[in-house]
Amino acid sequence: MINDFCDLGAAAVEKKLAEYKCDTNEAICLKLVRFPEDLEDDSTTFHPEYSHQSFGDDEVAFGYKGLQIQLFYTAGNLSTLFKVKYSSKVNEKFDCVEADDIEGKIREIIPAGFTCNTDDFISLLEKDANFKPFGTLLHTYTVHNEEAGDLTYQIHKADMTCPGFQEYHERLQTFLMWFIETASFIDTDDDRWDFFLLFEKYNKDGETLYATVGYMTVYNYYVYPDKTRPRVSQMLILPPFQGEGHGAQLLEAVHRFYCNLPKVQDITAEDPSESYVKLRDYVLVKLCQSLTSFAADKLHLGFSAEMAAEAQEKLKINKKHARRVYEILRLKATDMSDEEKAKAYRLEVKKRLFGPYRKNQRELTKMRKCLRPEELVSHMGQMDTQVQHEELEKSYQDLVADYRRTIERLATQVV
Ligand SMILES: CC(C)(COP(=O)(O)OP(=O)(O)OC[C@H]1O[C@@H](n2cnc3c(N)ncnc32)[C@H](O)[C@@H]1OP(=O)(O)O)[C@@H](O)C(=O)NCCC(=O)NCCS
Repeated sequence: MINDFCDLGAAAVEKKLAEYKCDTNEAICLKLVRFPEDLEDDSTTFHPEYSHQSFGDDEVAFGYKGLQIQLFYTAGNLSTLFKVKYSSKVNEKFDCVEADDIEGKIREIIPAGFTCNTDDFISLLEKDANFKPFGTLLHTYTVHNEEAGDLTYQIHKADMTCPGFQEYHERLQTFLMWFIETASFIDTDDDRWDFFLLFEKYNKDGETLYATVGYMTVYNYYVYPDKTRPRVSQMLILPPFQGEGHGAQLLEAVHRFYCNLPKVQDITAEDPSESYVKLRDYVLVKLCQSLTSFAADKLHLGFSAEMAAEAQEKLKINKKHARRVYEILRLKATDMSDEEKAKAYRLEVKKRLFGPYRKNQRELTKMRKCLRPEELVSHMGQMDTQVQHEELEKSYQDLVADYRRTIERLATQVV
């Protein structure tokens, strides 16, 4: 083949090659398949939010035009169809340019056992009728859907001793890479992991089948001398099911499960995302609003030891989280159009938010003592204080906006 580079200038080559770059968040097509016709139905396709772990920070694959990376899963068992499609590949045109090894990158994420053949996938889809949720049933709930009527959901607790669960989990966790920015796969050989799985029951040809909706992994940390501290590690509601209240249901069911275990001290989370913190606020406020120490007439007296103790003893809620619950319930009970009351609330929350700033300030003061006078820029301190004041105000405003959203959700009683 004659190298096409010979006929082109550098800029023209660059322009031509740019045509072979694809945004991998668009190119990767995910699907949860219940019926064969779903395969051709673009409305059931969803795309990753992240693909940087496989395709680098710019989330681009090089070497293909019209790239489509299909990762289709049967709805229950998550048996996988993997196909790479494109209209043209760069080394068909330019013989000294290498296209990215898409298959190799995807194979690093998806476990062996997938198929690349649609007919084989259809056979696997038929076998999904035999798929049953793993582990023990913890909680069932129904949600009314305009089109489908009442839908039933089940939350199960599973572990690696459940036959077939390890392989299923290997397929399930592949979704983390596309929806959690800093996702990593966990070491499932460690028996301190608990797995909570969420399924939707649906009807196919008169039979009841189960579709995977989402899951949560929790690590049971040891706390001296005889307690454990379950720490939520990963939580994912698959995108077609997000924003329907399933996250709240799953988190609440998991909380209730650990509340009943005497050895549990409290429940925490590993490096929680903003969306997780919002979800947790909602669930914990819902659980705490019936506790006597959080009664409306006690809230204006401040965050008390009684609140922390009751939340910990009855609901295994960590003190920091209980404090947020108190702030939300107090905001809910405060008439913010009353200037006095609004001011008292603002000061109360800002006092807590100011903690880290005060520490920062102390460190700065210490540093200054070590500096020679000529190194001290006199207005530096003032500048810091001003910046810190603005940051504090912004943190407060953002926090209160989130709190108000939680209060609204409680009021509308969206699950
Ligand atoms: C974060 C996550 C677990 C939340 O799950 P979810 O099922 O979407 O959560 P919910 O549906 O209970 O709540 C989400 C929103 O939907 C809203 N909602 C819930 N049910 C609703 C309904 N029936 N109608 C309208 N809105 C509804 C809630 O009010 C909430 O809104 P808000 O965020 O503005 O407060 C999910 O989005 C996810 O998996 N994200 C990707 C991974 C991730 O970030 N994981 C967490 C860190 S590991």
